[in-house]
Amino acid sequence: MPDGRRLPIVGGNWKMHTDRAEAHRLLDALVDDLDGLEGVEVVVCPPAPWLGDAADAFDDTSLAVGAQDVYWVAQGAFTGAVAASQLVGTVEYVLAGHSERRQVFGETDEHVNLKLRAVLGAGLRPILAVGERHEEREAGRTIEVLERQLRAAFEGIPQIDDGFVIAYEPVWAIGTGLAATPEMAQEACAAVRAVVADRFGADVATTCRVQYGGSVNPANVEGFARQPDIDGALVGGAALHPDAFAAICRAVAAAF
Ligand code: PGA
Repeated sequence: MPDGRRLPIVGGNWKMHTDRAEAHRLLDALVDDLDGLEGVEVVVCPPAPWLGDAADAFDDTSLAVGAQDVYWVAQGAFTGAVAASQLVGTVEYVLAGHSERRQVFGETDEHVNLKLRAVLGAGLRPILAVGERHEEREAGRTIEVLERQLRAAFEGIPQIDDGFVIAYEPVWAIGTGLAATPEMAQEACAAVRAVVADRFGADVATTCRVQYGGSVNPANVEGFARQPDIDGALVGGAALHPDAFAAICRAVAAAF
């Protein structure tokens, strides 16, 4: 931004929801509602089969497409996998490190690092998700866990630019309806930014966007958007409802 402020970014992660007709309805509704909205960047992450449909629907609009996942190897005999280079031209953003990938699919910090390198190597923008589990928060280990996840994710990555997005998503808040408080989220996002500053320098930390994710909805988003270190939201369940998702995007834009 010309005045040095960070443009907030709202991501909609559809996870493994929607059939093709639903996806088209949702994409069309989002274009109708959100194209040209200023004060927020909007990125939609549909299931892989609809990425091309999303790219077509968003062509010549202000909305961006993101992939929910990527494999880190460049090419080869890896049935079912999608390489970063194969996403180029269709998506701008790629999620890495989402807790469902970590917990359901057994992805480790090392896998997340390999994905980030592949995404950056392909010239795409990562949305790196980090977050503590309930028992880790209870044990007072939240900041330590975030720092471990971030430092492992950044291993061997010499520099990042302002296209690099980090999503703080406490695992206990995802899909539960139990969002963090704005104060908890602010504290964690500030800690994330401090690790970025330590690793890549203060200038990079100033431009890097840090989202909050976990049970964000139109009623609670403003509280997050008003926090100094929170630059938008990563939205799951509410992203499947165009009115709710659009309301979240507008609230974030209004708080900018
Ligand atoms: P939720 O999901 O908004 O449904 O809690 C957030 C996410 O998984 O990014």
